[in-house]
Amino acid sequence: MPQQVTVTEHIMLHQKRIPGATGQFSRLLNELVMSAKIIAREVTKAGLVDVLGFTGEINVQGEEVKKLDEYANRILIHRLSRSGVLCAMASEENADIIEVPDSLPRGDYIMIFDPLDGSSNIDVNVNIGTIFSIFRRNSDPEEPLLAGDVLQKGAEQVAAGYVLYGTSTMLVLTTGDGVHGFTLDPSVGEFLLSHPNIQIPEQGKIYSVNEGNYKYWSPSMRKALNYFKSNRNALKKPYSLRYIGSLVADFHRNLLYGGVFMYPPDVRDPKKPTGKLRLTCECNPMAFIVEQAGGMATDGVNRILDIEPDHLHQRVPFYCGSRNDVLKIQEIFEEEAKASAKKA
Ligand code: AHG
Ligand code: MN
Ligand code: MN
Repeated sequence: MPQQVTVTEHIMLHQKRIPGATGQFSRLLNELVMSAKIIAREVTKAGLVDVLGFTGEINVQGEEVKKLDEYANRILIHRLSRSGVLCAMASEENADIIEVPDSLPRGDYIMIFDPLDGSSNIDVNVNIGTIFSIFRRNSDPEEPLLAGDVLQKGAEQVAAGYVLYGTSTMLVLTTGDGVHGFTLDPSVGEFLLSHPNIQIPEQGKIYSVNEGNYKYWSPSMRKALNYFKSNRNALKKPYSLRYIGSLVADFHRNLLYGGVFMYPPDVRDPKKPTGKLRLTCECNPMAFIVEQAGGMATDGVNRILDIEPDHLHQRVPFYCGSRNDVLKIQEIFEEEAKASAKKA
């Protein structure tokens, strides 16, 4: 019989390798896994509601989708705040830091999450996910929590991961000891280790970007796009364009097949001059995972994990994936910057 390692068993084994880790960390991840199973169950039902809605209940269907986004957020906040191991949380859906109230047991960990990523894809039954990032509190637990405890740079993450609600439900996790994937076996209700030690190919064959924004991009970004469109990669294969519009799904495909995901700055929306994706709940966890898998994540110049966040919902340009492709983008940007400096 093949060995079937549950995520809980895997966490227990790995925790031994995290210096200073106590049972708190396993409790946190177990609580997260439980939340993910509940959200996965509701996501599956949303598909069913869509089918029913198609027979005339369109308004209700629209509201259900919105409720699902909020539902995922509520489940995570409710369960994680009662786990006894967090002192604070932050969510893409909440403007401010959510402190665990004094009335509940508190711990040293902080979790930042995007409860439902790609949620605009729910009503068309396309892959969505939950993304999370875990830090340890720096300040004295007897003193009030500091904003700096939550706004740590990504390099300080102790764990990060995502749950992909796709053809199967999958949890991809790093605790700084490689990247491991677990697939939910619905017959036993457990996430089982299915993808140990994921490594992203050094050379990708896919580029993922919302090319509809081309006219809003800088000349250097257009040049990078044209590179992927018109060149063969180092393996002498043309690149393919794949873009789902859910970061979690685009990232996951590129992680397994090799490729690069880009969300550059654009001038389409003056409120988002630095791109659409959020540093703390989207880019940091993905950057930690991709680096642990041997890839790279930058804002075009700097390593994502080295950026000191100055606010919770800060947006950053994001180029993430196979090492050779991210390096190529940086090279193009650097050449363009030099050329325009010369002209000036
Ligand atoms: P969310 O659903 O959490 O708001 O995130 C949506 C994000 C991300 O998942 C995806 O990569 C990106 O938006 C797609 O944006 P465009 O529609 O602008 O391409
Ligand atoms: Mn998102
Ligand atoms: Mn979201």
